[in-house]
Amino acid sequence: MKEHVRIFDTTLRDGEQCPGATMNLEEKLLVARQLARLNVDVIEAGFPIASNDDFTAVSTIAGEISGPEIAGLCRCLPKDIDRGWQAVKNAGKPRLHIFLATSPIHMKYKLKKAKEEILKLAVEMTEYAATLCPNIEFSPEDASRTELSFLAEVTEAVIAAGATTVNIPDTVGYAVPWEYGSVIAYLKKKVKNIGKAVISAHCHNDLGLAVSNSLAAVANGARQVEVAVNGLGERAGNCSLEEIVMAIRTRRDALNVETRIETRELLSASRLISRITGFPVPPNKAIVGANAFRHESGIHQHGMLSHKETYEIMRPEEIGWGAEEIAQSLVLGKHSGHHAFNKRLEDLGYTLSQDELLKALDRFKAVADKKKVVYDEDLHAIVQDVAAVGRKPTYTLEYLSVTSGNQLIPTATVRLRKGKSLRQKAACGDGPVDAVFSAINQITRVQCRLLDYAIRSVTSGSQALGEVTVKIQHKDKVHTGTGVSTDVIEASAKAYLNCLNRIL
Ligand code: KIV
Ligand code: ZN
Repeated sequence: MKEHVRIFDTTLRDGEQCPGATMNLEEKLLVARQLARLNVDVIEAGFPIASNDDFTAVSTIAGEISGPEIAGLCRCLPKDIDRGWQAVKNAGKPRLHIFLATSPIHMKYKLKKAKEEILKLAVEMTEYAATLCPNIEFSPEDASRTELSFLAEVTEAVIAAGATTVNIPDTVGYAVPWEYGSVIAYLKKKVKNIGKAVISAHCHNDLGLAVSNSLAAVANGARQVEVAVNGLGERAGNCSLEEIVMAIRTRRDALNVETRIETRELLSASRLISRITGFPVPPNKAIVGANAFRHESGIHQHGMLSHKETYEIMRPEEIGWGAEEIAQSLVLGKHSGHHAFNKRLEDLGYTLSQDELLKALDRFKAVADKKKVVYDEDLHAIVQDVAAVGRKPTYTLEYLSVTSGNQLIPTATVRLRKGKSLRQKAACGDGPVDAVFSAINQITRVQCRLLDYAIRSVTSGSQALGEVTVKIQHKDKVHTGTGVSTDVIEASAKAYLNCLNRIL
């Protein structure tokens, strides 16, 4: 069996320290419930002395959430530890997390204390916290910039004083992976009583290295990682929960450890945090970004259709992506090839002849050149259009030009092909569509009456395809025609012609 790496989630504490990410009690409870569904080992629910709201949030979560340990953060001050204990004591599994900076710069400028005083305070406060709670985590803040021998001295002393976890924060995100990993290896080697505590990694992402640094810590013996959903946290954030969990799972061969996270809840957790904080998840964000499992290049799509593992190292369903989203993972756009296009038409239930398929592909390429993404609705419209073209129309649209505006008389010039001959007319109208229809009438000379005109967007966004439907009365019969284009005037002309061609 692989060794267990504990997941200590600090979305509600360090995550909430992120500017603009403040959550109210109700939101914190929603997050805590989702963290319990994820089966994290520890929820750091807040900093109880920071405010009455923080205290209430931590104590409410402690009373309501079962499963994970519930931790409250405290400075090395008796009043903090007392308040922290009051907040977490009703949890099924309470934890007190106390911290004190140990780096020269923090000791000198922030705490104005000498090493000896820091060591004494760390020991006294750990001992005091241990009289209240059996589960104590101690963090030497700014550990990655602390003198190694002093870090080892503090670590040994707080373990002797009752700390069951010693967390090694890279508070300012300064470390690089091999260096941070070697700090953990050094402590494992030099601290005599290290076997009595779990070593934890707490990495900030200032250089974009939080996940890499945390993995380096795990590779060197850390058995807890401190994380936040979507990498939320102070400044550039903390180690991202979803990224490290999936790295450990996907590369279990390289790391030889496991977490107990219910990975199918990762996407829901990410979406919940994004919704609550209002911070959108970038499309290219690993694991939970909208593009994390999407492929657009023709070569990749061909590979994916032949064998998924050619371009996919994880299965999206392991993270909670749904069948619908997975079905859309081959994004049709201008880089797509005929393999993906044919497959999508097949999935949508179309069986086209070779000729229709080629026409549809041409149409698709033209649409893809105008739009970033071609959606299923676009494909339905394209296939309908191609099927209509398959009926050998009498007239086809060769050229269309329209001028319109609030100070102009709407005028259209239309050129139609009938067999080998081309005919062109210009006409004015009440609006650009009316002008186009008048010009077409002059060319086709069909006597008819427009009964209905409807336009709808078949896809979303400003580049959407517009589908126009027209109803025409000719003698005693009513005919309907449709036309599709990213240009609604062109779609109107096509719909009108489609209808007239039926009549003719
Ligand atoms: O980054 C940090 O050092 C912290 C400590 C309080 C653990 O968040
Ligand atoms: Zn932090």
